[in-house]
Amino acid sequence: MLDTEAADSLIAAAHRARQRAYAPYSGFTVGAAVLCADGSVLPGCNIENGALGATVCAERVAMFSAIAAGHQEIVAIAVVGAPGRLLTPCGVCRQVMRELAPDADVIMEGGGERLVMSVAELLPAPFELQPGT
Ligand code: THU
Repeated sequence: MLDTEAADSLIAAAHRARQRAYAPYSGFTVGAAVLCADGSVLPGCNIENGALGATVCAERVAMFSAIAAGHQEIVAIAVVGAPGRLLTPCGVCRQVMRELAPDADVIMEGGGERLVMSVAELLPAPFELQPGT
C-alpha cells in the first residue's frame, strides 16, 4: 500500500493528465497515472474517436504507455474523472489491469472520497488465457 504522500502525488499526476483528455464526443474527461516499481510515473487520458469503439480509456493509455516505455512492474494506478464524483474503472480496464498490473493498488478519488482497492478486488474472476494456448 502506498503512503499518503505517494498516493497524493499520483492523484495529482492523474489530474494533470485529465487536462489533456481528448473527449469531444462524450465531454467526459478522465485522467490516470501509473507508478512503476522504478519510480517512473506515466500519465494517461481518455482519447476518443468518431468511430466510438476506437476510444481508449485513460487507464489503458497509462498502462500501455508504461509497457511501451519498458516499465514492466506497475505498483499503483490513480484515476480521476470530474471532481464531483468518484470514478471507478470500466470492465475492460479492469481486465487489462489483471494482465498488466495484477499487484497494483488502484486509487480512485472524487466527490470528496478516496477509495483504494486491489486489482483482484476490482475484478475477482477475470478471463484467463494461458500464453501459447
Ligand atoms: N472512460 C475512461 O477513460 N475510463 C473509464 O474507466 C471509464 C470511461 C472514458 C471513455 C470515454 O471517453 C468516456 O470516459 C465516456 O465513457
